[in-house]
Amino acid sequence: MADGLRAGQVVLVGMMGSGKTTVGGKLARRLDLEAVDTDTELVAGSGLEIDEWFTERGEAAFRAAEHEVLARVLDHPRTRVVATGGGVVVDAANRALLVEARHTVVWLRASPAFLASRIERKSARRNRPLLGDDPRGALEELDARRRDLYGEVADVVIDIETVMAGEDKPRKTLSRVVADTLERLAMPVQR
Ligand code: S3P
Repeated sequence: MADGLRAGQVVLVGMMGSGKTTVGGKLARRLDLEAVDTDTELVAGSGLEIDEWFTERGEAAFRAAEHEVLARVLDHPRTRVVATGGGVVVDAANRALLVEARHTVVWLRASPAFLASRIERKSARRNRPLLGDDPRGALEELDARRRDLYGEVADVVIDIETVMAGEDKPRKTLSRVVADTLERLAMPVQR
């Protein structure tokens, strides 16, 4: 199929704890699209949990598998809402795929302090082996290394702290704001 005829994806990027998976699900419902999550796909396809990938096979193997999943998901014939793992932008080949004009990449941006406050619960740290014993410190370090990379691939940047502040249903509000922003920018969301 010629490139111009392939459906583009709505892709959420951002650090761990920015709510990509939850917001992706809500956004998909709003846009009447299917939702897909690269971490979930990776686990389903391999039978290995994310933390098992890191402990049993190592981060490099995880990143290689993540790249395969991303490439497949971005090439899906229908437009879907794609939630990615926070580290997806580290690989230059992934960034090259994400900047293809047909895709709409939304960066859910937040400070490491805000993200740390959202992933304090131990359950939220499951499947996030990179956080270790000092989630705040790890998030600061990852943010310093990744911030420019998210900026490189993003078509739209949403400051989630501002959007969520004082909201009763912050994730619902966030998904509405993302949907409204895409509509305002007339981003091509085709079914
Ligand atoms: C990672 C983020 C995680 C998961 C893995 C590595 C990262 O996804 O892919 O633990 O490098 O930031 P979430 O961003 O969905 O937590």
